[in-house]
Formats: sequence, structure tokens, C-alpha cells
Amino acid sequence: MQRMEETCLLLILLLSGGLSTLPPHSREYHFVKMLMTQHEAQSYCREHFTDLVTIYNSDINQLLFSMSPRLSIGAWIGLYDDRYSWKWSMEEKLFYVGSTHEFLIWANGQPNCANAKEYCVALQGQTQMNDRPCGASYPFLCYNAKNTSYILVMENQTWSAAQSYCRTYHTDLTSIRSKEEKSNITLTLKGSGVQYVWIGLYRDPWAFWSDNTTSTFTNWNPSEPNNYNSIQYFATINFKEGTWSDSAWFDTAYVFCFTAVTKQTVLKMKLQSEADMHSTEIQQQVSQQLSGLMLSEGLTDFRIRWRKVQSYRDDQSKKQDVDGGCKTEV
Ligand SMILES: *[C@@H]1O[C@H](CO)[C@@H](O)[C@H](O)[C@H]1NC(C)=O
Ligand SMILES: *[C@@H]1O[C@H](CO)[C@@H](O)[C@H](O)[C@H]1NC(C)=O
Ligand SMILES: *[C@@H]1O[C@H](CO)[C@@H](O)[C@H](O)[C@H]1NC(C)=O
Ligand SMILES: *[C@@H]1O[C@H](CO)[C@@H](O)[C@H](O)[C@H]1NC(C)=O
Repeated sequence: MQRMEETCLLLILLLSGGLSTLPPHSREYHFVKMLMTQHEAQSYCREHFTDLVTIYNSDINQLLFSMSPRLSIGAWIGLYDDRYSWKWSMEEKLFYVGSTHEFLIWANGQPNCANAKEYCVALQGQTQMNDRPCGASYPFLCYNAKNTSYILVMENQTWSAAQSYCRTYHTDLTSIRSKEEKSNITLTLKGSGVQYVWIGLYRDPWAFWSDNTTSTFTNWNPSEPNNYNSIQYFATINFKEGTWSDSAWFDTAYVFCFTAVTKQTVLKMKLQSEADMHSTEIQQQVSQQLSGLMLSEGLTDFRIRWRKVQSYRDDQSKKQDVDGGCKTEV
């Protein structure tokens, strides 16, 4: 007697070259010979191709350089400097410092990343924030989590030296995460006479690319970036030697876009379980756990699909794929 068994087959489609955080396997590059502002260039690339280019290494930089006609104006690439991508030393994750926090107030005209050198934050006049060169020496404010106290250290130190000191003797450079914290800090600074005092706020220079992938490769012209007039937060590549400069978003330049060439790999998984694998709920749970796993491994471009397979227990060769029976798409 043959017993028919239905199993569900899980298909994972791995796509590569798309918008994953991993370096791309294959990209096509396009030089657009039209002058546009940075915002127009980004929209143009997203509409006609995938996005503005990300340059991962000198080979790609060289390739783009060799593709371009020798024009005097350069082209937009995807790199930009986000003036609001601040992190607290204590947490090291990105968060937005907006006008929504009445306890975090920027001094007039700040942050301005003057000369493209200001990536650390000091309290100015004891209340307002100002981005300052990380190598400048100021007194600093540590936070001690054991006795929830704020310690003003009256020694002039660079931001990193201050951070090391606070991490060694207390917890870290202080954060300002609430009104209470702010008022305790104001109290600690009162009467000290300090003009600038380091706090734990900092950011990474030129850390983002338009397509959200990451690349640490840079090829700046020796005199760049300089954030001339404090308005240059977007990168262009020039056609004299392929080096980069910072530009204002409203400057016009040609454009380098890319198209992701997607490759597809299919993984089949056969699951054996006591549970009823035809249950949509169970399928969804399995799919969710799998996507969680894959995301934690850095895989972002994939689809998960269920397929129903009929087989006979005592005759494994008689298998038949039936599409559509077990359906879950993630
Ligand atoms: C908290 O502990 C630190 C480190 O031991 C010390 O320097 C500081 O004076 C203490 N503050 C208070 C208010 O107890
Ligand atoms: C820190 O530097 C400032 C400015 O140069 C100076 O006025 C102050 O006396 C210095 N403070 C200490 C504690 O050395
Ligand atoms: C701030 O100070 C108040 C009063 O001294 C204290 O109760 C509170 O725990 C402090 N809050 C923080 C976040 O340090
Ligand atoms: C990049 O990431 C940001 C924040 O996570 C998101 O808002 C944006 O849509 C993403 N852009 C692209 C092109 O994926």
C-alpha cells in the first residue's frame, strides 16, 4: 500500500547585485552628459537606472574616469556628508538630533562642519551645541553610571583623549538624552567658567552613499573636502585626474549612475517536521525566522516561497512538484 505524502518545499531566491549592503557582484555604469543639481541627478539615476554610483575601490574609480570625456566640469557620485547623522559615544548608533528635542539646541548657524573638519560636539556657553574640530583641546564632561553623576574634568584634551579618559575612570563622555540630564549638566557646569566643553556627540565624516551601501574607499583631491562656505556636502569626481571634490547640492555637474545587474540563485530546502507544514501560520513563522537569519548574515535581497511536493513514502522517485499549494511569499 502506498501512502501519499505531501511535503512543502521552501524556495529561497538569492538575488545579488541589487540594493544589498554587500559589495555588488555586477554593476553597469552610465555616464549622463547632462548638467544637473545633486537632487536632480539622484532622481534621474533612480528613475532611469538604479541610483548614483558607489565607488568601492580604485578599479571602479579608474573605470569611471576612463569612461568620461575630458570635460572641465566633473560628475556627481553617490557620496554625501550627513550633517545630522550624530551618535552618542555611549551608544554608538545613529540617531537624529532634530529640533524636536528642546534640550538639544544648536548654537546659531551650527552644525556647519567648518572647513570639513568639525565632527565632534562641544557645549558652547554651557548650554548650546556646536560642532568643533575633534582635535581641538577643551575641558570635558564625563558621565558615571555607577552613581549617576556628571564629572567636569578641567583639563584641555582632544575629543578622543577625553573619551578615553571618561571610559577609563568613569563610564563615557556624557550624553544629553532628556531634560533632566540637561539640567543636571547645566548645574554641574555652573560657575565653572568654561567656554567649550566636550560632550559625547560625534559623527563619521562622509559616511553615506546614495544607494545605502557602504564603502570606505576615498579618492579626494588633496585640497578637498573643504566645505567651502559651509554648504558643500555632496561629492563629485573630476575629469582631470579622477579625484573627488565636495560641492553644494545646487551646483551643476554631469552624472554617474549605475544599474544593478541581478543574478539569481535558488536554494531548495526540504523540511521535515511533526508540525503541519501546510498551515499558513506555520509557514509564515518558518519564513519569518529564516528571513531573520538571512538578514543577520547580511543577506538582504531574497524572496522566500513555498511549494507543495507530492511524494510516495515508499517510492521517493515518484515526486511531483505542484505549484501554488503551499503559498507564502516574503
Ligand atoms: C561618582 O563616582 C566617581 C568615580 O568614582 C567619583 O569621581 C565621583 O566623585 C562620584 N560622584 C558622586 C556624586 O558621588
Ligand atoms: C585650556 O585652554 C584655554 C585656552 O587656551 C586656556 O585659557 C585655559 O587656561 C586652559 N585650561 C587648562 C586647565 O589648562
Ligand atoms: C538628575 O538630578 C536629579 C536630582 O539631583 C536626580 O534625581 C536624577 O537622578 C538625575 N538624573 C540623571 C539622569 O542623572
Ligand atoms: C536608505 O536608507 C534610508 C534609511 O534607512 C531609507 O529611508 C531610504 O529609503 C533608503 N534608500 C534606498 C535607496 O534604499
